[in-house]
Amino acid sequence: MGNPEVFYWTSGFFYACSSLNQNNEGKLVKIGKFYGIGVGPGDPGLLTLRAVEVLCQVQVVFAATGARSHDCVSGSVVNAVAGCKAERVTLVFSMARDMEDRRQAWSDNAKQVVDVLQQGKDCAFVTIGDPLIYSTYTYLLRQVQELLPEVEVETIPGITSFQAVAARNNLPLVEDQATLGLIPAWTRESTRDSQFENADTLVLLKTYHHRQEILARLRESGFVGECIYASRVGLDDEMMVSGIDAIAQVPDTYLSLIIAKRKPER
Ligand SMILES: C[S@@+](CC[C@H](N)C(=O)[O-])C[C@H]1O[C@@H](n2cnc3c(N)ncnc32)[C@H](O)[C@@H]1O
Repeated sequence: MGNPEVFYWTSGFFYACSSLNQNNEGKLVKIGKFYGIGVGPGDPGLLTLRAVEVLCQVQVVFAATGARSHDCVSGSVVNAVAGCKAERVTLVFSMARDMEDRRQAWSDNAKQVVDVLQQGKDCAFVTIGDPLIYSTYTYLLRQVQELLPEVEVETIPGITSFQAVAARNNLPLVEDQATLGLIPAWTRESTRDSQFENADTLVLLKTYHHRQEILARLRESGFVGECIYASRVGLDDEMMVSGIDAIAQVPDTYLSLIIAKRKPER
């Protein structure tokens, strides 16, 4: 059911309110609010107070998983919030290289979210780390806003995976005039990124396909400072490995990243 335009009389003027929708019982309800929540890298202790507050208020929580994965880290973090009584829905996103497959999943999932919002229910989409850094949230949000332009949205930042790794190692990411580069390193082209030449500290996410090339590139580009590989940080099977030679030996894992510093710490 579409949005009826409802007219109000106030201070001598009519204005239209299109944030009302007819729900399944035919009642006019205000469209729910949509929250995008960053839940941090996996340790519930890294949830923000605002994230917990909202998770305890919303009626529905959507979490993402991949078509070939049963792992839903963001959903597990939510399970640790005792006061969250929301209905849980897992949305399956395509990780295929084919963009059409991905778009179809964004669109199908956005329709599910919009359906709930139109019933007047507030809902949240939870995502690992920060929702505005390489997250399915941004694709979903665009689609939701396209289908429901009047929806009210609040994005709640989360602690990123690489901030958590730096903190676990008491490693300053950048100081003074130093620059920080961030590379989604899952394609071979990314190993030719100019940030290898320019940045003082590099954060390499999604290192599972081309880790050996990435390590070779770090060596060639003069990264002689700390180099830390971290997988599944904040989870029970977390692993940290230090030094390029040792990192070359570890098996590939999706939830893994590398932080490399050009110069050694003093
Ligand atoms: C789709 S990106 C999500 C980034 C996330 N939004 C953030 O702010 O950290 C997925 C990549 O983030 C990194 N990542 C996320 N959670 C992680 C964790 N718990 N441990 C290690 N790396 C993680 C990995 O590089 C993984 O391939």
